[in-house]
Amino acid sequence: MYIKKLDQINLRYLFVVAIMLIPSFVITSCVEEKQLDDIVQQTEEKDDSQQGTDEPAAALPGLPDDTAGYDKWLKLNAEPIPPVAGGDPHNGTKNVYVNQERDNIAPDGEQQFPYPDGSIVVKEASRPNKDYIGLIAIMRKKAGSDPDHNDWEFIEYTRNTPDDDFSVLASGATCWGCHARVEDKDYVFTLLD
Ligand code: HEC
Repeated sequence: MYIKKLDQINLRYLFVVAIMLIPSFVITSCVEEKQLDDIVQQTEEKDDSQQGTDEPAAALPGLPDDTAGYDKWLKLNAEPIPPVAGGDPHNGTKNVYVNQERDNIAPDGEQQFPYPDGSIVVKEASRPNKDYIGLIAIMRKKAGSDPDHNDWEFIEYTRNTPDDDFSVLASGATCWGCHARVEDKDYVFTLLD
């Protein structure tokens, strides 16, 4: 009889302790789960960023590899350049990029000419009322390639749908014939904003 009573007391005691402990178990396991989630998320984010650096952007289809990722280069214009009224040689809304650092082409904040050897200037244009890039015009500065025109190589590519590859539209004299108007600025119209 005495033993039975003791048992009952013990059981009750154990029951109360158990009830009291349940919330703390639940809380700890929630915290652990949350921490685990965080760790998983952080690792995934890290993987993503590593993937980003491991795989550089590919050039747009049909364009040479040295234009890959050009839209991450220094952009010369602060605002998109609208179509030129009355006829635009590169018809569309345009952005111009160069594979140079700002400090390199504009030491002390002022743009210097000529562009250094190895410079690549890429102009992209979305044709009027189109939401994809339909034109890419390129100027490459290659020492010795054309001393009469500041050693620029000119070439322009176009495509008529977003799924097409780009193909060459024109190059050389067609281009520098007009760009000679800005010979004093190294044949380049768009200045660094
Ligand atoms: C009739 C004149 C004309 C012809 C021809 C022409 N361009 Fe241009 N180009 C311009 C003007 C003006 C700009 C300035 C930005 C704008 O409004 O498009 C320009 C801008 C550019 C730019 C951006 C750098 C800069 O000078 O502002 C590149 C690159 C370029 N042209 C390449 C070419 C190539 C390649 C060809 C030949 C296939 C060509 N251009 C033919 C007038 C011309």
